[in-house]
Amino acid sequence: MIPIAKPLIGDEEQREVARVLSSGSLAQGPEVKAFEREFAAYCGTKHALATTNGTTALHLALLAAGVGPGDEVITTPFSFFSSASSIRMAGATPVFVDLEQDGYALDPAAVAVAITPRTKAVVPVHLYGELCDMDALREACDAAQVPVIEDACQSHGADAGNGRAGSLGAAGCFSFYPTKNMTTGEGGMVTTDDDAIADTVSQLRAHGEGERYEHQRLGFNYRMTDIAAAIGRVQLRKLDGYNAARRANAQRYSAELADCVQVPGARRGHVFHQYTIQSDARDALREHLAARDIGNGIYYPSLLYEARPLAEFAAPTPRAAALPPRVLSLPVHPGLSNDDVGAVIGAVRDFARTA
Ligand SMILES: Cc1ncc(COP(=O)(O)O)c(C=O)c1O
Repeated sequence: MIPIAKPLIGDEEQREVARVLSSGSLAQGPEVKAFEREFAAYCGTKHALATTNGTTALHLALLAAGVGPGDEVITTPFSFFSSASSIRMAGATPVFVDLEQDGYALDPAAVAVAITPRTKAVVPVHLYGELCDMDALREACDAAQVPVIEDACQSHGADAGNGRAGSLGAAGCFSFYPTKNMTTGEGGMVTTDDDAIADTVSQLRAHGEGERYEHQRLGFNYRMTDIAAAIGRVQLRKLDGYNAARRANAQRYSAELADCVQVPGARRGHVFHQYTIQSDARDALREHLAARDIGNGIYYPSLLYEARPLAEFAAPTPRAAALPPRVLSLPVHPGLSNDDVGAVIGAVRDFARTA
């Protein structure tokens, strides 16, 4: 079986976890502080604040940007659920706008049109690991003084030449779920240059505390464990190598599959969290791959406003609506051997020949 995703946890992570377990400091301790320092340096931001997962990172970043009931937040309908559920968790209204032509990123022109006096933030998602057009998005948002909060949960290390994911807006939100480009088991991070956002996130993730037991506001318990942070510090050191392997696998797929399926472009700093093709015969191709023990995935089978809790926010987004029946992600992770990549290519080509 060639899995669609595979967390690579080695001896070093295991040693670090054992060291932390015997240290006596297990939550929001020195490992978390070190991981935050190192992650901020990697992203090129002044601050990084660790949380329990990407969903809570988004929730806190939105709250820290002042998002609340009555506000609108513009985002994509084609993403993982929490890109939009976090907006509802903050009490605001998600405003779904369409994607750019021939891509998966939020369309900056559609964002510009959707901004109203109630718009409190815009949440672009760097889907599959490819950055949105952040220059154009920032231009649209700066004119209206609306902060951009990057959903960078799939784009650790993506860089189109003017800064890494997480450093391109008012705040960036990351997930370290096991399938991501780097993992801590579960975990998340908010990156920002803004001292006020950092202070608010820091308080909100720990019961609104400034100093211990001095509660400045109501808050949550969204703290990361030192066990997770210790894994994250090792994974961060490996991230560039992992991303290079993902890119090399993607390059080979594109070179050898472009004549038989629609392969992804590799524009703005792609780190290939997913390698996603499109096909009219997607479901038959999927069965063909499954029969050959080749893992694959549909990200995502429906639009966010088709989910019951978000149905009242449905909006016309024809480009996004064309994607759920067509997209198929192939294994691209750094755990693949050359033979694995060759087997995936062979299976897709076989299908194209006989279909
Ligand atoms: C685009 C996107 N946003 C948000 C999340 C939420 O992250 P987590 O699963 O860590 O809560 C994910 C992860 O699945 C994601 O892919």
